[in-house]
Amino acid sequence: MSSKDAPTIALVGAGAMGGALVRGWIEAVRKGGGLTLTVVEPNFDPVLERELDAVGAVLNPPEAGPVDVLVLAVKPQAFAEAAKSAKQFVGEQTCVLSIMAGVTIDNLSRALGSPRVVRAMPNTPARIGRGITAYVASPACSEYDKQLVEQLLMPLGTVESINAERLMDVVTAVSGSGPAYVFLLAEVLAVAAEQEGLDRETAIRLANRTVAGAGALMLETGDSANTLRKQVMSPGGTTEAALDILAAPDGLAPLLRRAVAAAAKRSRDLGRG
Ligand SMILES: NC(=O)c1ccc[n+]([C@@H]2O[C@H](COP(=O)([O-])OP(=O)(O)OC[C@H]3O[C@@H](n4cnc5c(N)ncnc54)[C@H](OP(=O)(O)O)[C@@H]3O)[C@@H](O)[C@H]2O)c1
Repeated sequence: MSSKDAPTIALVGAGAMGGALVRGWIEAVRKGGGLTLTVVEPNFDPVLERELDAVGAVLNPPEAGPVDVLVLAVKPQAFAEAAKSAKQFVGEQTCVLSIMAGVTIDNLSRALGSPRVVRAMPNTPARIGRGITAYVASPACSEYDKQLVEQLLMPLGTVESINAERLMDVVTAVSGSGPAYVFLLAEVLAVAAEQEGLDRETAIRLANRTVAGAGALMLETGDSANTLRKQVMSPGGTTEAALDILAAPDGLAPLLRRAVAAAAKRSRDLGRG
């Protein structure tokens, strides 16, 4: 086990999400951050493998001992298999950080034999460091565990702490699945543009850049969605004509309310299953 200045980290699964995490950690090590990395992954991206080698990370060790933080980033269906070998990284002081969707703190704790568990839910923009990750920590986690976990999640984007595990179903339904709702918005906006007469390619370009640009504007100005929406509108104008439909009692709000409720229910059901 390490000193607290140079925590030892083992990552199991360096795919899309695990890869994004470990690239951020490599950057931290290059800047002089004290991290000792071990990574277990059956199919390394060759570039990532070289970068890990260059910072002295240990890759696929035949055997290993306990680390400060064990990070699990395999698909949930691979968890049972991965847990068998991941157990070697777990000692009395190990904190387990899982980004696997739907795997509960209780299951993680039982499979890995540690009461110190953090369950986190990132979303796909995490792959470019622009995601939001919400996490919940088991009561056995110390303040230091939580600080360390927050630092480790930062390469994925913003990190948010949630105080009850049941709320992870809501997080899953809002930010976890949410990028798909926004991509659907871009898709249906393009279809509407085509139906109004634009050619398909132009329609897609206009819709995609509108969604991407609006998101970037919100992020970069820090202004609320409500403020930015009102800036587009003028009384009796074109935006108002559209919003009379979208913001009507049977418009977007009740539709999204139902969609989020359905996703949260599915998350609860999968968790029970
Ligand atoms: N992508 C998202 O938007 C998103 C959002 C929220 C949460 N998550 C969660 O993040 C986790 C990872 O998702 P992902 O998209 O990064 O998946 P992914 O790209 O498939 O990455 C998982 C990696 O783990 C490897 N792996 C499989 N079994 C292993 C084992 N026993 N030991 C070590 N490595 C093993 C896989 O190798 P092979 O390819 O050879 O199997 C793969 O490279 C999932 O649990 C998912 O629920 C993802």
